[in-house]
Amino acid sequence: MLHACVTGWPVSHSRSPLIHGFWLRRYKIEGDYSVRPVSPQEAVSFYASFASSSYAGANVTVPHKEVACAAAFKRCGAAERLDVANTLWLEDGRLVADNTDGTGFLASLDQAVPGWSEKTGCALIVGAGGASRAVIDALVQRGVERIELVNRTERRAHDVAVRFADKVRPAGFDALAERLSSADLVINATSAGLSGAELTVPWDRAKDSAIVTDLTYVPLQTPFLRGAASAGLTTVDGLGMLLHQAVPGFERWFGVRPEVDAELRAAVVADL
Ligand code: ATR
Repeated sequence: MLHACVTGWPVSHSRSPLIHGFWLRRYKIEGDYSVRPVSPQEAVSFYASFASSSYAGANVTVPHKEVACAAAFKRCGAAERLDVANTLWLEDGRLVADNTDGTGFLASLDQAVPGWSEKTGCALIVGAGGASRAVIDALVQRGVERIELVNRTERRAHDVAVRFADKVRPAGFDALAERLSSADLVINATSAGLSGAELTVPWDRAKDSAIVTDLTYVPLQTPFLRGAASAGLTTVDGLGMLLHQAVPGFERWFGVRPEVDAELRAAVVADL
């Protein structure tokens, strides 16, 4: 019997058990995926001794993504570039970490709008927190030429941009309309929706061909996406990123690359 879990503090809100539980049943795998709350006091020792636990691996959510990454013997992909991990597994008994948020973001767009990246010369990201960094890294990896980063607190946009050399152009909210007008892909990476706040976006300035997505998936149709849809733009909700970021972990722990399909999506939507 293989065991995996989601770790964080708090962690009871996580939809990961639903996603992995769905796949374990679908592929008839003898395994379980549980919830393991890890308090901040316990975090350093928990991840340091993870390799000798009974788990084959874990997901990591806030606030432990940095601690878990630092505890790993080896860091791959975005975990190596960003020093933040969301997926852990063991190789030769040693802890390995990756960050699949960015690849999940790309896979979600690939599934929803095939060919989007060939048409994306310029991406605009609103918000400069942790989620934003993972998405910028993914866009850089995919080869998007121009990345505009607009944040309410302009200094934070600059702090994020310096990590990506000259690939990212930072600005404050006053530049939103101008930057929007040249963007092929527009991403809301702020947590504004979670606190009920609404961003004021001049959608009439966007390109008619722009694709608009939001990293927030509760509610599925955020005010940001509703505004874009009312302006006739193509929108992609944030649920796909959540589903796709789970794929590499499941494959590492349970040996099957799981599919993200309408049935899984419906199961998670019913739980939102
Ligand atoms: P996460 O890790 O989820 O990205 P975070 O690091 O707390 O969360 O970042 C939250 C982001 O949402 C920031 O870019 C924040 O802007 P500030 O840097 O100015 O704080 C942005 N944000 C949160 N509430 C917002 C609001 N009401 N309007 C605009 N931006 C908001």
